[in-house]
Parts: sequence; structure tokens; C-alpha cells
Amino acid sequence: MAAEDLIQLFVQKLSLSETGLLNSIEFATNNSLEHQKVVGAVKSLQSMNMVVAEQIETKRLELTGEGKQIVENGSHEYRIWEALPETGGIEQPVLMKKISDENVAKLGFTKAMSNKWIAIDKSSGKPLVIRKATTVVDEVRHVLQLVQDGSSNKLTDQKKQELKKRKLIAEINEKSYDVRKAENFSTTIAKPETDISAEMIRDGSWKSKQFKDYNFNAKGIPPECGHLHPLLKVREQFRQIFFELGFEEMPTNNYVESSFWCFDALFVPQKHPARDMQDTFFLSEPAECLTIPSEYMERIKETHVNGGSTGSTGYSMEWKESEAKKNVLRTHTTAVSARMLYKVGQEYQQQLISAGGDKSKIEFKPVKFFSIDKVFRNETLDATHLAEFNQIEGVVADQNLSLGHLMGLIKEFFAKLGIHDLRFKPTYNPYTEPSMEMYSWHSGLNKWVEIGNSGLFRPEMIRPMGLPEDVNVLGWGLSLERPTMIKYGYDNIRDLVGHKVDLQMVYDSPCCIWEERKQSYSKVQQSKA
Ligand code: PHE
Repeated sequence: MAAEDLIQLFVQKLSLSETGLLNSIEFATNNSLEHQKVVGAVKSLQSMNMVVAEQIETKRLELTGEGKQIVENGSHEYRIWEALPETGGIEQPVLMKKISDENVAKLGFTKAMSNKWIAIDKSSGKPLVIRKATTVVDEVRHVLQLVQDGSSNKLTDQKKQELKKRKLIAEINEKSYDVRKAENFSTTIAKPETDISAEMIRDGSWKSKQFKDYNFNAKGIPPECGHLHPLLKVREQFRQIFFELGFEEMPTNNYVESSFWCFDALFVPQKHPARDMQDTFFLSEPAECLTIPSEYMERIKETHVNGGSTGSTGYSMEWKESEAKKNVLRTHTTAVSARMLYKVGQEYQQQLISAGGDKSKIEFKPVKFFSIDKVFRNETLDATHLAEFNQIEGVVADQNLSLGHLMGLIKEFFAKLGIHDLRFKPTYNPYTEPSMEMYSWHSGLNKWVEIGNSGLFRPEMIRPMGLPEDVNVLGWGLSLERPTMIKYGYDNIRDLVGHKVDLQMVYDSPCCIWEERKQSYSKVQQSKA
């Protein structure tokens, strides 16, 4: 029934009521309506000053699930009696099986015996259950029916107690409204206006119209808004950590990179397996990059072939520009770091030229860069690997940096995430020496798990860039996906990334705050208060 029809019906019934009173529950039951809807109608009428409503609490008896079953099928004892033939008997186990619910059968049997509705006849040798009463009255069902029909007042208190004890009925407190007419009562309802319109102002009709009161208690409409994916939430936390440590964000807006910046500038030999079709996605259109800074490329070529002026012997292999020009989907964000470090090196060289080549007149300004963005690798896809993922990377260039600085910085970085148990393990990267993998203790898996890779960039990489002799560059990288999966409890990457992602998951996922950082956030809150 539409809300307006319900209101109409209610005022009609109220105007006809001899007592001048209408109870919301009685009205709901008599008209087979949901009580909640009737309450809504009463509230509307109240807001129009058509009625006054007094909330009252009444106790009411209601059938339990078992009680309802009995009204439908008969009492347990009746069902046992009914299952027996008019004459002759059946074995008890057979009788019990006739009733699907074992408990009903057991209870019913005991009760039917004590009611003397059935008996056990041993005259034929084996005991058989027989009907003792030829007709029975299912009193329990009858009284429960009364309760169901709302006529529980016909029951004695003793009977009610008994049914309550058998958990066939329950007493519930019910809130309802006793409604009476108020000053504005009328059986015709003028629908109040909800809003003033331009029309009403123009023709002056607003003066005589009735307007609906504002309902300041109404719940607002949940605001429509965008949602950040968990990866972006975790990314934001990492960004904040880098900012706190004084890092600057690098521009990572190019997924397509030349092999030169992705590999050659990083002293990755042109015959390196990672450059193979197997790990790297090569572009066919456009297959080659447009430009490579030519002087720098010459120095890189020298370095690869014979070490150039870096003091290295290089790879003693041919180096081809055509190989360096091949476009790829970047396999790591270290390509971006290389571009940035090259820029820093070139700026230093410019300064040096302006200072007439006098190194004592200029100072190298240390830099701290970070990036968090997507990289691509042609991996075998499984529960934790996709062909694309996000890398978090930090690089620092300063005078006389050592392995100790790198380890200290990494410890500081992970401490901000609440990771304190760190271990370092030597490893190999073409562009760093020494290189270390970082491991952290995973108490859930009960083992050390790899969380990243790091190292001091090789002279073969940073000297051709033009960075001063005493400047070292350190760097480290990790994936964004792994900490996100751990933080949000995913063991399959496909639940987090890709076309199978449940958008509701994105809407519902809470914001990411690492345990360690919660305290400092609450401290900020306190100091604000
Ligand atoms: N680029 C490395 C990787 O792909 C991470 C790294 C960054 C290592 C910087 C050392 C220095 O895993």
C-alpha cells in the first residue's frame, strides 16, 4: 500500500473510532500491514498536527518457531498418536522413524504415554506400540492457535506459564502508539508542499500554501564520492614516509622507455638475459626512441666497451646504438632514477663551466629522490605475480656515501613502517656494487622474507653522468604490491589487481595506517586538541 493511501485509511479509521483512539499495532494487524509502515504514517500525521500520539509499551505473547510448527502439524504427542494405525500396532523403532525429527518423536512418545493416548502391547510376544485412546483432542495445538489468533486472553495464567516453560510461546515487549485526533484533524489530507517554487512566488500562491516542516533528524543521503584502491592507499603512506625523510618525488609518467635509459645507462650489458625477449616487453610501434644525448651516449659506449675513464675494464664487448634505441616498457623505475641523476650530473658540469673549471668554487648539492610507479616484466603469471607491478624506489646522491649510510637509511625507512628486524644479504645487480637484498622476519610465515633490493651505484653508471668524483649514489627498491597484500590480507594478487577485482572491495577497504605510525598520528590529534 502506498504511503498516502495508508495515511488516508488511518485517518478514516480514526474518525470512525468510537473511543476516539486508534492503536497502531491493532490497526496494523487488522489491516494486515507492517507495523513499521503504520508508525511512519502516524509520524507524518503528527508532523501535520493532525493527531497526537502517545507511545505505549505492551506485552504480547508470540509463538516460538517450535510453537508455530505445532500449530501447523499438531503437537509432538498428537503426531505420534496419529502415526499409529487405528487397530494393531507397530514396533517402536519403526514408529519413531515415521517422524522425521528425532527430538519431536522422542518428546512426543513420552508425552503420549503419560497422556495415556498410546500404550505398549506385549501380548503378541514382541512389544508393539498401539493406540490406547480411540479419539484424542490436541489441546496444545488448540491453545497455541488461540495465541496465534491474538486471543491469548482466553488462556489461564497457568496454561501460559506451562507453554512458556515448554518454549512454545514467548512474551515480547511491543512499542506502539495510541493515536488521537488533534486540532488540525481532518479526513481530507492537504498534501503540504515540500519546497517553494518560482511559480509559487510569481503567482503569490505561496502565501496560502502549507509547507512541510524540515525534518532535522532525517538521515542524509550518503555522499557519492570516489574511492582509492588499496594500492593507492598504501602508496600514499609510502609517499608520506619519503617526504618525512626529506625526499623529492621523481616524474615517472613514462611507461615506455628506451633500452638506453632502462639498461645501458645502468651498465647492464647488451647481452644481459634480462634484456632478452623473455623478461622485457619490447615495443614494435614505435620500435625505437627518438633521441639519446649524444655525448653521454658516447661515454656510455666507451664504458661498456673498455671502461672509459671510470677505471673499469668494461665488458670488452661490442656496443650497438641500435640495441640502445629499442623501446621497451620500463622494467624498473631505476630508469627514471638514471635520468634524474644524469640531470643532476649535467647541472654540476654546467656550474663547473661557469666557475671556470675551479671545483673549489662550487659545491655539490646532495639530492634525495623517490618514486612509486608501475613497471612491466614478462613474468609467468601466478598467485603473486602479474606482468605489471609497482616499484617503490629511493636514491640518494651525496659526497662519500658508504654502505653504512645505505644500511642506516634502509633501517630508518623500514622502522617507519614498524619493521625492525632487518637482515641484509649480498646479491648481484649489474648497476650496484656492493648490492644487498633486504629481508625481514615474518612472524606469520615464521621465516625471513625478502622485502627489497639495494646497493651503491657503480662508478660505471654514475661517472659518465658527470657527477663529481667524491659523490656516491645509493639506492633501494621494493614492490608496492607485497606490503599491500600483507596489510590487507590478500594471498592472490588477482583479488587486488585486474578485471576480477570486486569494486565493493575497493569501496570498503579501510585507509592504510601502519601500526607504528598510528601512535604518531594520535599524538598529532592530541596536540591539536
Ligand atoms: N631496480 C632494482 C629492482 O628492480 C631495485 C634497486 C633499486 C636496486 C636501486 C638497487 C638500487 O629490483
